[in-house]
Amino acid sequence: MITVPVDSLSEEQAKTELERLAMLIAEHDRLYYLEDRPEISDAEYDELRLRNQAIEKRFPYLIREDSPSLRVGAPLLGPFKKVKHRKPMLSLDNGFEDQDVYDFYDRTRRFLGLSADTPIEIVAEPKIDGLSATLDYQEGHFVLGATRGDGIEGEDISANLKTIKDIPSSIEIGDFPRGTEIRGEVYMRHEDFMAMNAEREAQHLPLFANPRNAAAGSVRQLDPKITAGRPLKFFAYACDDYAPFHVTTHWEFLEKLKNAGFVVNPMARLCENVEEALAYYRELEAQRADLPYDIDGIVYKINRIDWQNRLSSSTRAPRWALAHKFPAQKAQTYLQDILIQVGRTGALTPVAILEPVTVGGVVVSRASLHNEDEIARKDIRIGDTVVIQRAGDVIPQIVGVVLEKRPKDSEPFEFPKICPVCGSHAIRLPGEVAKKCIGGLICTAQAALRLRHFVSRDAFDIEGFGSKQVEAFYKEGLIRSPQDIFTLEERDRESLTPLRLREGWGTLSAQNLFKAIEARRKIPLHRFIYALGIPQVGQATAKLLARHYVSYGVWKAAMIAAKDPDSEAYANLISIDGIGPSVSEDLAAFFDEPHNLKVLDDLLKEVTVLDEEPLQMGSSPLANKTIVFTGTLQHMTRPEAKVRAELLGAKVSSSVSAKTDYVVLGADAGSKAKTAKELGVTILTEDDWLKMIG
Ligand code: IVH
Repeated sequence: MITVPVDSLSEEQAKTELERLAMLIAEHDRLYYLEDRPEISDAEYDELRLRNQAIEKRFPYLIREDSPSLRVGAPLLGPFKKVKHRKPMLSLDNGFEDQDVYDFYDRTRRFLGLSADTPIEIVAEPKIDGLSATLDYQEGHFVLGATRGDGIEGEDISANLKTIKDIPSSIEIGDFPRGTEIRGEVYMRHEDFMAMNAEREAQHLPLFANPRNAAAGSVRQLDPKITAGRPLKFFAYACDDYAPFHVTTHWEFLEKLKNAGFVVNPMARLCENVEEALAYYRELEAQRADLPYDIDGIVYKINRIDWQNRLSSSTRAPRWALAHKFPAQKAQTYLQDILIQVGRTGALTPVAILEPVTVGGVVVSRASLHNEDEIARKDIRIGDTVVIQRAGDVIPQIVGVVLEKRPKDSEPFEFPKICPVCGSHAIRLPGEVAKKCIGGLICTAQAALRLRHFVSRDAFDIEGFGSKQVEAFYKEGLIRSPQDIFTLEERDRESLTPLRLREGWGTLSAQNLFKAIEARRKIPLHRFIYALGIPQVGQATAKLLARHYVSYGVWKAAMIAAKDPDSEAYANLISIDGIGPSVSEDLAAFFDEPHNLKVLDDLLKEVTVLDEEPLQMGSSPLANKTIVFTGTLQHMTRPEAKVRAELLGAKVSSSVSAKTDYVVLGADAGSKAKTAKELGVTILTEDDWLKMIG
């Protein structure tokens, strides 16, 4: 794909690009978090996120409601109970070059208003490549342990975490606080991982791809006895709130953790300045291959807790920390074949089949090739020797071809012009990177995947109806359209080959499936909207729509009317915070398609869509208000003031208009004060402002 540099993007291009990146990143998040089968390397993934960030920085007004920068991780999956974290479990901002670390220091200095010679101590810790967990201790006893999940809610995996020896079941109370969440990383050492895989191989069990997946798989076992047999370890490195620890620095906090019986990484180091931090990074980079476990970088954390508190966090990551990533690890191997997969939207995705090779301690046999252009640009051919790279644990990418080793008779790869699943033409629309099968519903791959989406956990959530069953039912013609799911039992009763007599099914499993389907005849509006699989309408957008329109009938009528961009319905739709013209277009296009309306009508004969709770107004006095800061503030810098206001739900703007709710006047305020007075906007002094934010 040709990527236009961020600086040369037009506004229109930026909009399209942000849309593309949001979808792409969401898809990769899903593959990584939910399906444990990432298709791109960490480095590539980071590149997508960085590009998204850079575009958002240049065009802040184009930031999407479903922007990946506002979200951490992926939604939840699995049979574990959900638990809400007391404080969100955030991600970390990434840096790759030394300059990113210098910038981090500069940003911190500017934010806190520190002079150039004020020393800033940081704690540097290895960034463990495992999975994060939070442990809740009450009165010194471990009572609840959870995964990160989507950052807000995780899964209760207490029983499994209790089997890990590094996690103390009780801790000395003494100075140690009551009620606190200790956070850290569950991981597996290389030698334990290899011994475990060797044992599994002997028992003909499927092997884990790498230590991280092995740890993640082990911790999510339904039977804690299985987890107990897995060699899991835990490093503690954070908490939900420092206050009860009576410490002033992160370094002291780590000391307290150790004294309380946690394992703290002995390689953590206190660095006086940026040079020491970078020297530490180099030292560990050199040791990386010899360490007993995987690390993918260094985490720098501002040592002073009062500074951490002031710097606070964005919705995604704390401003007081930075993950400095190591470069990817590389290897050479032979490209045996290129497979073409077809997705829900019909996109043809090429996958490289490789002769298995070890990269950074992990055996790799597949790599993502992204799309047609990527193969052509790198001139990748079957039979080539290729350089692959992997960062972290994911399926790697192909960096390039070793031309000296290319066989004489090799030929350029010809990307298929027809869909390998249904034989329809595959075409590329202007502006799109992927070739798409035009087979639509006749293409099994697409239709079955759409149905799979329809019954998936965040949509209709029909238990026991996995991809295998959906695909099999689709192929046999039992289910072609969503409403068929709900008439399955009735048809089954009259069938000569009822489900219970089919291979793999019995009376009980058939009954269970029918029961699970029956249980979903009533569905909340937001799930219903999400289930339809309208392009760009993910869970977040579905919720916005559902809360806005409240009932299915109102929503449907509004969407049909919104086809006309001059209509009131259209104006109303785009007035929803987070819904822009591009999503509106996709919604209108969906409702403009007679086939879709028929599906909806048929479906509504079978299911009842429940009304949604209307949107609650926030309770903060600043919720949804627009605020402008002008002049020099005495008690905090401008960036800090902005962050505080945003945390309370306000929008910060740089210019005063009739829509402004408050103007905060610092010293030497200029023309904005005058404009505010003229427009009758409420003016606050800095003291008023401080009182307002408490
Ligand atoms: S601190 C709010 N320290 O990296 C920040 N994270 O990319 C809390 N990780 O979700 C995280 N080693 O799973 C921190 N020494 C370390 C870490 C570490 C690994 C992971 C953690 C986090 C992810 C973010």
